[in-house]
Order: sequence, then C-alpha cells, then structure tokens
Amino acid sequence: MFKYRNNLFFLYRHHMDHSQPGAGTQHPKDHRKQQLIEATIHCISTYGLSNTTISRVTQTAELSTGIANFYFSSKKQLLLETLQSLSTEYEQVIGRAFSLTGTPRKILSNVIRARFDPQIFTAEKIAVWYAFTSESRARSEYMLICEDKDTAFMESLVGTVKLLCKKNTRADLNPIAIARALEGLLNGYWEEALFQPDDFDPSSAIDLCEGFIASVFPESQTNDSSAQASNTDKSANPVESAANTQNNAQSDLLAPWTYYSTEFLKLEKNHLFKERWLLAGHISDIPHPQNYITFDAVGERALIIRNQDGKVRAFHNVCRHRGAKLLDSERGTCGRTLSCPFHGWTYCLDGELLSVPAVQTFEDLDLGQNGLVPLDLEIWMGFLFVRFGGTGQSVADSLEPIKDLVAPYQLEKIEPIAGSRYRETRPYNWKVIHDIDNEGYHVPTGHPALQQLYGKTYEDSEIGGVLIARAQINDNPGRIWSVRQYQKLLPQFDHLPEQNQRAWLYFNIFPSMVIGLYPESIEFYMTLPNTVDSSWYLGASYALPDDRREVNVARYLSARINKLTEKEDASFMRWMQLGMNSSAFPTPKLSSKEQNVRRFHKRIQSELPAARLANEPKCEDVQNINEQMQI
Ligand code: FES
Ligand SMILES: [Fe+2]
Repeated sequence: MFKYRNNLFFLYRHHMDHSQPGAGTQHPKDHRKQQLIEATIHCISTYGLSNTTISRVTQTAELSTGIANFYFSSKKQLLLETLQSLSTEYEQVIGRAFSLTGTPRKILSNVIRARFDPQIFTAEKIAVWYAFTSESRARSEYMLICEDKDTAFMESLVGTVKLLCKKNTRADLNPIAIARALEGLLNGYWEEALFQPDDFDPSSAIDLCEGFIASVFPESQTNDSSAQASNTDKSANPVESAANTQNNAQSDLLAPWTYYSTEFLKLEKNHLFKERWLLAGHISDIPHPQNYITFDAVGERALIIRNQDGKVRAFHNVCRHRGAKLLDSERGTCGRTLSCPFHGWTYCLDGELLSVPAVQTFEDLDLGQNGLVPLDLEIWMGFLFVRFGGTGQSVADSLEPIKDLVAPYQLEKIEPIAGSRYRETRPYNWKVIHDIDNEGYHVPTGHPALQQLYGKTYEDSEIGGVLIARAQINDNPGRIWSVRQYQKLLPQFDHLPEQNQRAWLYFNIFPSMVIGLYPESIEFYMTLPNTVDSSWYLGASYALPDDRREVNVARYLSARINKLTEKEDASFMRWMQLGMNSSAFPTPKLSSKEQNVRRFHKRIQSELPAARLANEPKCEDVQNINEQMQI
C-alpha cells in the first residue's frame, strides 16, 4: 500500500497551537529546543510527570522562560513533544537494528543489543518511559505513542523469529510465543534497571537474552556464514553465456537475482533513471528569484534555480573547471551569481561563466564555451521534472491520461508544508518499495488502520502506463482513534467534486515516482537506486492555502495513520529484501489484486529484457545479454 509521508512535528505544532510565534518554522533539531527536552526528561525522572513544571525545566536547562514559551505554548505541549522525541529516538535505534542485513539470528542479536544501547537505555529515559506509560491510561495521546512503540517492536520481532524458524525448519516452534518471551525478558530487564539502577549490568542481561535464544535455536549461530553459503549456491548456477538465454526465459515476474545483482543495478541506473524524467519538487519550492533546489540521483547532480527575471532553469550542479558541487544545500536562496567554492569560477544564474580567478594563467580558456551544462526541465501542473539524458516523450504527453483526474486538485496552486521535504536512505532495493506500494492485497492483514479507513473500497487500475490506486473513506467509525477522528473531522473542500471529497488517490509514475492526492493535502515521493540493498527516498508534502483548524487537524490525523502504515510497510520491505537472498524464495504467485505489481515487473522487463531471465547471468554478461535480447 502506498504510504503517505508528512511532517508530524509540524502538524503537532499547528494542531496544538496556532498563535505561537514562528510555529512550524523552527527546525525540529533546534539546539535550544533539544536542551529543553533533555531538561524535561531529567525533571520527569526526578520529580515525576505532575511535578514537572516549565519553570523547573527552564531552570534545569539554564534557559529563560521566554525561550521555553517560544517553543512550547504549554506544559502539555512540552510533555507531548518530549514523549515524541523519546519515541523517535527509540524508533531510530531499534529500527536500525532490525534493518541491518544479516541472518535472522544475527538481527535478533542486533535487536537485543539495541535495547541496551546507551542512547536509549539510561536510567532517566527508562523512568520517563514508565511515567508516560502509567499515565497513558488516562491520556489517549500518550497511549498512541506508547502503543506505537510496543506494537512496532513486537511485530518486527515476531517477523524475525518467524524467519528464523523457517530458516531452521522449526515448524514445531511458535514464533509468537518465542517473541513474547524475549520481549518479556527485555521488558523485565528494563524494569530491573529502573528499580535497581546501581546493580544493573547490561552485558549480563544481553548474555542471558542471547542464552535464551540459543536454547531455543541451538542450531543457529549469530554469524552470517549460512547466508553467505546460500548466496554462493545461487552463483554456482548462472547463465553461462548469451547463447543459452532461451533456456533461461522466465514468466512476466522479476526473479530474485534482479534485486541483488550489481550489474543489473547498473542497467537500471543507466536506462531507467538517467534517461528519464525525474520528479524534483514543485515550482512553489522556489517562488522567488535566487531560490533553488538541488537534487542528486544515480551519480548525477541537478540544480534547479529561479533567475532574477523569475525564469526557472535546470543545470548539472557541476562546476566546469574540475567538477565541484556549486551548491551543496538541498534548497535555499543563493546570491546574484553562483561562485564555485573550490577555486571561485563564477556563473550567472542563467548558467553563463562570468569570471575566472587568474584567468590569464589558463591557455585558450573561452568563457563563452564553459557555462553550466543545462538539463532538460519540464513543469507539469507545477511539478518540476528534470532529465539527465535521453530523449522521448514529454512529461505532459506521458501524463496526459491522468490529467483530468488530477485537475480538480489545482496542483499549480499548492504550497509546501513547512519542513516536510525529506531525503533519506532506506535499506531496501528500490523495487521492493514499489512491489509493496503497488498492491492493496496486503491492506486487510498488514494495515489495520487503512483497512478501517477505507477497507474494501481500495482498488488498483492502470491508465496509459500510470498505475493508479484509489480508495474511498468508510463511513463506519474505525476502532483506531486516529482513523475515527479523521473520518469524523475531515471537512468539505469547495474545490473538489463530490466523488473526491473523501477519496485517497495515488499515481505511480514509472519508474519510481508517486503523487498522492488527499482531500486535505498533496504529496510526492520518489525512490532512487543507491546499492542493491539501499535506496534514496525523497519527497515533500504540499497543500492549497487553507487555514481552517479542522484542515490542520485532518492533516495531523492522516499523518498519524500513515506513520503507522509506514512502520508496517517497513517490516514487509525488510522481509522481502531478506527473502530475496533465501534459497527458498518462491516464484511469486500473484492475486488479481496484485495486478499492478505484475504491470510494474512487465514494464521493467520490456525496458530491460535481461530481467526476463530466471537465473543470474555471469556478471560480465549482463550488459551484453540485455543488448542481445533487445534486438
Ligand atoms: S572546481 Fe569549480 S572553480 Fe575549480
Ligand atoms: Fe503497505
């Protein structure tokens, strides 16, 4: 299922306080704000939740009350953001442990150690977690965050134990019971550390947890030797040469080797990404002269900039002297000229080379021939698309089939939601993300909140090569608080026709761009291949100007729902990525509800015919075979 990414921090602030100066504009990692949050953790662990006051916090942080009031309009907001900060930190540490590649046994070891990581396992932080957990029975906003933490951990743990049972062919074991027992052990140690901090020894706790797992899986080691052996087995059976490819033809689904072959990844980067339009942002990201965004993809670097006359252009973000990066920030406002930080070659915002320090020391340097190299740029409904090479259809032509469907959303007029732009890595092959994004078959089992939100109305389709998913919000109130409130509070939008008032709509544009349309906001995201098991993930959220309180609340609630979805999908993606390396990975059997996964795979195979092979060719043959099969 598609995920919707939004900036929860921003939405908290707007949901809770509209009058606060600078609301939504402060960077979440602002140093002084972080100081206040750390002081709050100290105060809660020392005085308890009810006796923690803004005045105590500011004294502890050695900051003025005015600064605290700037960031937090009330004690309630301060406490909630402290809990959110703890939760984010916990997710990062635990998520990293679950995301590392290795055998399931190795991952369990990582996770056990992560639970005692000094970043999250301190006497103060444990005390604060327990304080919020106790209070959460009376405070639903605490409950949501505390439950998220426990649910996500448990689900990932069960998934990993299931993989371990499968790997060791231990069908006799109950993975849920084992995961619960391990979770109980870990929680028990957290409690012990809370009540007897001086006597607690994390290393013996880790040893005991490891001992428990070793007693259940005596056959399993923590090293990766078995996984490596499995990979070696696969490479023992490659296609020997281009000549025998006919015996190696597969169905219309991608084989696992296409997810871990570095040679195939090169083909993807060169043909699916370097020669195609890529979505870099929206015209409203650069509303004024000298505003720019930069964007790195598959070894290339783009710079999209608005010049003094308001015209938008795109260039390679590469100095013509020796290739330095002209602008390093992902977005910002530059001066009237662009000066290379390396040796100072200076360009005007139209790309022309204006000056070169010590120009007389160069032989025959023609400034007129050394301007920035332009890139293809096309603006479609306000969205900025760039292309590093290749020719072919314009964006407008390729998206013509969906033009009428998106027209009501007035995409040319949307504006960025402050702080929502992101660029991060994910530990999966780029295709894994879209294999999961492109189907709703897993929604009933994998996404309880989405199922309650739009249940059976979800449907996939395709128009002119663009994959579409559409769902209508149910009227039956969901059991999950965020869903129920979103259903109830989502207001009417004058610009939308009746059938779109309560629709969630997603467009997946080949190879890896998604535009999501919601009644209250718009998002885009795009994945870019990095290595065989990591991808860049970038995107942003936008909205038509609308200051209604209920709109802000709806944005907050949909962000919460999608945060859950994102966590759930992260587990599926990780398991799929690991599964690709398993000798037991099956030829997928797809439901008609997964037809867009099939379409996605077929599209890749039609562009890169080597992707039809069932077995991995020799590394050096992948390129040749692909060319031969193209003829
Ligand atoms: S690399 Fe830019 S001036 Fe030398
Ligand atoms: Fe999903």
